[in-house]
Parts: sequence; C-alpha cells; structure tokens
Amino acid sequence: MAVFIQLIIFDVQYYIFSVASLTRAIPTGPMPAEHPENAMNNSLIQSIEKRRTQYALGPELPISAQQTTALIEAAIRLAPSSFNSQSSRAVILYGDESREFWRLVETALGKIVPAEAFAATKGKIDSFAAGAGTVLFYEDQDVVKGLQDKFALYADNFPVWSEQASGMAQFAVWTALANADIGASLQHYNPLADADAAARWNIPAAWKLRAQMPFGSNEKPFGEKAFMDDARRFKVFGTATVAETRAAA
Ligand SMILES: Cc1cc2nc3c(=O)[nH]c(=O)nc-3n(C[C@H](O)[C@H](O)[C@H](O)COP(=O)(O)O)c2cc1C
Repeated sequence: MAVFIQLIIFDVQYYIFSVASLTRAIPTGPMPAEHPENAMNNSLIQSIEKRRTQYALGPELPISAQQTTALIEAAIRLAPSSFNSQSSRAVILYGDESREFWRLVETALGKIVPAEAFAATKGKIDSFAAGAGTVLFYEDQDVVKGLQDKFALYADNFPVWSEQASGMAQFAVWTALANADIGASLQHYNPLADADAAARWNIPAAWKLRAQMPFGSNEKPFGEKAFMDDARRFKVFGTATVAETRAAA
C-alpha cells in the first residue's frame, strides 16, 4: 500500500512538473541554433522533433485504426532488441476497449488515492481515456528467462536489455504516431493495472506491463521545449572522411 501511495504522489508530481516545464515559454527556437542545418533536413530527425508529449487528446485519428495498428506493429517489429530476442509485446486498444483500460486504472486508483486528491487524479485519467486508443507495452519475461538460461554469462544484463528494448519500441511507436499527426503521451500505471488488464484481455502471465501510451488527435498545440547546452552534453573526438561519391553529390 505504501508503495502505491508513493507511486501516486510521484505520478502527480511528475504530471505537474511535466506540464509546467513543457508549457514554460522558452525564447529560443525548437532546436539550439548551433545544430548543423543538415541534421534538421534529415526526415527521421524531423519526425523525432515532431514527437512530443500530448496530454490534450481527442478521439479522432487522421488515419484508420487498421493503418494505425500497422504503424504501431511495424515500429515495434523493426525496433532492435538484444540478441534479436524480440522481447517486446503490445496490446493495442481502441475506443471502448481503451476507455475500459483507463476505467480499470481509475478504479484501482480510487482504492488508494485519498478522497480529496481523487478529483485531480480522475481528471488526468479522463484525459487519457479521451483519446482514440492506448498501446500497452509489455516485455515477455519468458524470453528474458530463456536468454538467461542460454547465456549464463550475461544473465544479469538481460532484464536491463529488455527494459532498453522496451524503451526503443516505445520511442519508435511514439515517433511513428507523431509522424502520422497522432498525439500521444507515455504513462506508467504499472503494476497497479497489471492484474485487471491481464484478466480483461487474456494477457499471458509472462508478459510484464512496462508502459502505457494513450494516443489520439492533438487537441492543443505543443508548448516550447527547453534544451540544455550541447557543450555540456556531447563530447566528440577524431575525424572521419566522406566517401568520394557522396562528397561529389
Ligand atoms: C523513460 C520515460 C518515462 C516517462 N514517464 C512519463 C510518465 O510517467 N508520465 C508522463 O506524463 N510522461 C512521461 N514521460 C514523458 C516525458 O515527461 C517527456 O517526454 C519529457 O518531458 C519531454 O517532453 P516531450 O515528450 O514533449 O519531448 C516519460 C518519458 C520517458 C522517456
């Protein structure tokens, strides 16, 4: 119970901090001026820049549910994983099924959030339910265990690499959705919602819920985003030559 209360306090703090930091006006442009222009001409970098946290979601999508599913599945299928183990799993919920997930979360939260704080919590959950759908990201622990058995030398690494693979899958999906003009955010109501979701959608016991991504129409513009100084972030050493055919182009 104490863990859950900590989780809720953290979650509310996270939300307040995120909304405050994302809506704070920053006088600079979307990327620091010193970024070489050619990086920003790269279409993948443009899609990465387009991916933002959207809390104001609406129910309509610019493409069909089938196309959206295809995007999400392709992003996860093509995302890398350690030893190509493909440990990431996803459950994609639309419409009433998505709203049902958030209702399960709300019911679970109702049992642990103090009554006076519940209105704010409910408002937040309702905003996720207002979207078109939700992706539930899982990692298959049978895959992790199988790798640990097979490669005992790396046993400690596999749970970490599984988490990293999940992060890559989440990022790939978020970016692909953004590229299709679909807004989304990343949420963590695990482990609170795991058992109810598993029962409702017949999820294998070995699938561990890692994150939830509500998505839908972008109902508000994105706030400006601050970037820390590149000089404090990156170190570059050495030189590289450009292939002659490319240099000539
Ligand atoms: C590993 C990770 C965990 C995150 N967890 C949450 C979360 O629990 N709730 C939330 O609202 N946003 C969460 N976010 C979103 C970040 O707050 C957000 O990406 C960040 O503030 C930058 O804003 P942007 O997404 O608009 O670029 C998470 C992001 C990452 C990468």
